[in-house]
Amino acid sequence: MELQGKTAIVTGSARGVGEGIAVAMAKAGATVVINSRKEQDCLKTVEKIQAMGGTAIAIAADVAQEDQVMALVAETLKQLGRVDILVNNAGIESAPTLLKDISADTWDRVMAVNAKGVFLCCKAVIPPMMAQGKGKIINISSVAGVRMTFFGGANYTASKYAVMGLTNHLAWELADSRINVNAIAPGAVLTPLAEQSTTPEYREMTTQRLIPLGRWCTSDDIGHAAVFLASDRADMITGQILAVDGGILTGFGEDLRPVIRQRMADMQAKHS
Ligand SMILES: NC(=O)c1ccc[n+]([C@@H]2O[C@H](COP(=O)([O-])OP(=O)(O)OC[C@H]3O[C@@H](n4cnc5c(N)ncnc54)[C@H](O)[C@@H]3O)[C@@H](O)[C@H]2O)c1
Repeated sequence: MELQGKTAIVTGSARGVGEGIAVAMAKAGATVVINSRKEQDCLKTVEKIQAMGGTAIAIAADVAQEDQVMALVAETLKQLGRVDILVNNAGIESAPTLLKDISADTWDRVMAVNAKGVFLCCKAVIPPMMAQGKGKIINISSVAGVRMTFFGGANYTASKYAVMGLTNHLAWELADSRINVNAIAPGAVLTPLAEQSTTPEYREMTTQRLIPLGRWCTSDDIGHAAVFLASDRADMITGQILAVDGGILTGFGEDLRPVIRQRMADMQAKHS
């Protein structure tokens, strides 16, 4: 039980990757705060963890709203007394769109959740982590934040690069406070939403061309990596990006140009 006695906030953990991380952390002994914008959505994950014998509570908050983020952390401290781990997972991916067709509003919305949300959550947990003398912050970026992908548009890629910049900068800024800041860069993760929004043919094509290890990741794969980075075994790791991507970033996949051209043609067709 690597995380026994620790308290973790996992943003956007009502479903998908965040749910996988929350479940993995609860299995490792952590008490987990399940967050999403609506409390009702969080309860399913809370019940799942409780049914496994774990401990979780639901606290709703929009990570893009400073007052709600401050209230999320204040309520965590009120109910659980401490916050040892923050996983900045909440993120949105607007429909893949060529940059010339991305509206300024869409740009702002993606940045508000994916970049500003990470900033606000870090800002809110740093004082209690400093007071405790230790903490672990894990930011969920993407392979899009290391190179790029056509799963999202340029706004998504830019927002995930912002997460990497925050991770690197904060690792320096918080080192003296023994707060470790790392990022996980998932590749393609087969969440229920991803399953609905892609065809088996598309998944097979991307697997063949992009993923040397031959399958999409599961939320559990990301959860295992998050548990490690949150544990005391990772005390000497900070400022790192751990890609959990089946090898996408090795670049050993096939020639990607046909995939990229096909994706651009699909995007053009949608907007013409
Ligand atoms: N699924 C993938 O293939 C993949 C790949 C790389 C990176 N990621 C990243 O993993 C994270 C989770 O992705 P997912 O696929 O599970 O997405 P998802 O849409 O299935 O789940 C996201 C969760 O975050 C919540 N959320 C959204 N906006 C929020 C806000 N403003 N405040 C609080 N909660 C909010 C949603 O309600 C939902 O519960 C994101 O940061 C995403 O960019 C996902």
